[in-house]
Amino acid sequence: MRTIALLLTSLAAAASARLSCKVKPLGGGQDDGPNILAAFKRCAKKGRVTLDQYYVVDTLLMTTGLDDVEIELSGVVQYTPDIAKWSPQSYYLTYQNATTYWFLSGNNIHLYGGGTLDANGQIWWETYKNNQNSGTAGGSSRTFARPVPLTVGNATNVVIEDLTQIGSPFWNNFVYQSTNVTYRNINISSVSYSDTPTSNSDGWDIYRSSYVTITNSTVNNDDDCVSFKPNSTNILVSHMNCNGSHGISVGSLGQYAGTPDIVANVSVHDIIMKNTEYGARIKVFGGNPSPDSTAGGGTGYVKNITFANINVEKTDTPIFIDQCYSTDADICAQYPSKLTISDVHYINITGSSSGAEGSVVVDMQCSTNCTDITATGTSLSSPNGTATYVCKNIVSSSQLDFNCTAPSS
Ligand SMILES: *[C@@H]1O[C@H](CO)[C@@H](O)[C@H](O)[C@H]1NC(C)=O
Ligand SMILES: *[C@@H]1O[C@H](CO)[C@@H](O)[C@H](O)[C@H]1NC(C)=O
Ligand SMILES: *[C@@H]1O[C@H](CO)[C@@H](O)[C@H](O)[C@H]1NC(C)=O
Ligand SMILES: *[C@@H]1O[C@H](CO)[C@@H](O)[C@H](O)[C@H]1NC(C)=O
Ligand SMILES: *[C@@H]1O[C@H](CO)[C@@H](O)[C@H](O)[C@H]1NC(C)=O
Ligand SMILES: *[C@@H]1O[C@H](CO)[C@@H](O)[C@H](O)[C@H]1NC(C)=O
Ligand SMILES: *[C@@H]1O[C@H](CO)[C@@H](O)[C@H](O)[C@H]1NC(C)=O
Ligand SMILES: *[C@@H]1O[C@H](CO)[C@@H](O)[C@H](O)[C@H]1NC(C)=O
Ligand SMILES: *[C@@H]1O[C@H](CO)[C@@H](O)[C@H](O)[C@H]1NC(C)=O
Ligand SMILES: *[C@@H]1O[C@H](CO)[C@@H](O)[C@H](O)[C@H]1NC(C)=O
Ligand SMILES: *[C@@H]1O[C@H](CO)[C@@H](O)[C@H](O)[C@H]1NC(C)=O
Ligand SMILES: *[C@@H]1O[C@H](CO)[C@@H](O)[C@H](O)[C@H]1NC(C)=O
Repeated sequence: MRTIALLLTSLAAAASARLSCKVKPLGGGQDDGPNILAAFKRCAKKGRVTLDQYYVVDTLLMTTGLDDVEIELSGVVQYTPDIAKWSPQSYYLTYQNATTYWFLSGNNIHLYGGGTLDANGQIWWETYKNNQNSGTAGGSSRTFARPVPLTVGNATNVVIEDLTQIGSPFWNNFVYQSTNVTYRNINISSVSYSDTPTSNSDGWDIYRSSYVTITNSTVNNDDDCVSFKPNSTNILVSHMNCNGSHGISVGSLGQYAGTPDIVANVSVHDIIMKNTEYGARIKVFGGNPSPDSTAGGGTGYVKNITFANINVEKTDTPIFIDQCYSTDADICAQYPSKLTISDVHYINITGSSSGAEGSVVVDMQCSTNCTDITATGTSLSSPNGTATYVCKNIVSSSQLDFNCTAPSS
């Protein structure tokens, strides 16, 4: 009896034991990518991959099919600054020509440890600035494609925490076709050492994903702090510190005629923004007469969005809606957007604008009626005199706690 009980206990222990794969760096600038991939392969099911030292990575990290995997990243993973190599070898994603260094995929993944992901951005930013052939968005040309340091793709039930990200060539994080992904305590810094801008250095982009939480994180960059791209639903962003960014953005949406884009059930609260172009921003393309337009004309909706407790300082436009985004004013007047915006709530948006837009602190311009847009607790000032609030086609203007003026042109 006793032997059997012992045997059962040890069987249970064996069944619950976690495989351990610790990666030893090769040193001397050699590529640790193959050993990291081997560790993920061996520990792909119920394993723990430990990255506790300094690793040089010159190989695409496709870590897919993971199932119940812990990743202890307490060291530094640094991607080589080899543009000629990474441009063709980074993994091509199907949105805005984005590519990635690391495609993290599977179910039940936990990345933690307080380590750093360094993508050597400076050389990419300089090259992007000087490269006539850099392509649009991520690049795409395969001779110059700026990869995303960490993509959580085709994944479910993922937690990423306690991570520092520096020097991303492009967006820092991409949540791609995934569900139930949480990021917390992430410190992002995309800051150039020269006057070269860090173009497209978004903190996060979310695409075709739901139940995504981003919390308690710091972003120092020069593009969106967080951006909700097509088909982002049930998203929570809170307790963020965004500096130097373009704010927290819904969109851009509605770019492609015939494709519905949806952003719904989003809560953004307790955010501190400094030196940003926008605060709470929604950008949607106007309409377009062409059925195969790639510059507006898309359908879909933006619905049930709440921005609460956002404090801004030196923000050009704290509250912004543009439903003629990247669309010629005449075309937009003739072909208003087919993508509706409704059920958007601004609660306690406070602080001061930069004055870059004169005295404007709120600029909400819809090309078709936007409905059920409300604001309470708004307290925004401008260094350029009495704050002004510009609204167009906001049919619920009586539910705003400020008086709108019409756009001047
Ligand atoms: C991807 O890059 C190609 C080539 O530069 C360009 O034609 C295309 O418009 C880009 N796509 C997007 C979505 O930016
Ligand atoms: C991700 O999922 C899509 C759709 O299911 C599939 O086409 C694609 O091959 C997957 N990509 C990877 C790298 O697993
Ligand atoms: C979401 O993922 C977390 C972390 O893996 C997990 O604990 C939680 O149960 C998941 N939630 C749902 C609804 O599956
Ligand atoms: C928030 O992040 C900071 C700095 O990364 C950390 O010290 C703090 O413990 C985090 N707070 C919570 C509630 O996770
Ligand atoms: C974020 O990292 C930078 C260095 O990249 C550091 O200076 C800063 O103190 C960190 N901030 C937080 C909140 O951890
Ligand atoms: C978004 O979801 C809608 C409805 O499911 C779908 O028709 C559309 O193709 C999706 N758009 C994208 C960009 O995935
Ligand atoms: C915040 O952004 C401003 C403007 O981009 C920059 O000058 C400043 O150094 C940043 N602050 C921190 C703490 O990085
Ligand atoms: C609105 O979005 C919030 C998340 O921000 C969600 O909790 C709520 O259920 C949504 N409301 C509806 C009617 O879907
Ligand atoms: C808005 O601010 C008021 C006063 O500071 C506070 O009582 C209320 O809880 C805030 N609203 C939200 C949604 O946090
Ligand atoms: C706002 O005021 C500042 C001085 O306070 C001035 O330098 C700036 O030109 C003004 N901006 C606009 C757009 O009026
Ligand atoms: C837009 O709203 C206004 C004011 O409520 C209304 O008069 C007008 O008919 C609406 N337009 C459309 C196209 O629904
Ligand atoms: C809006 O204008 C009305 C009428 O001029 C005035 O009574 C009201 O106090 C103003 N509201 C605000 C928030 O300025």
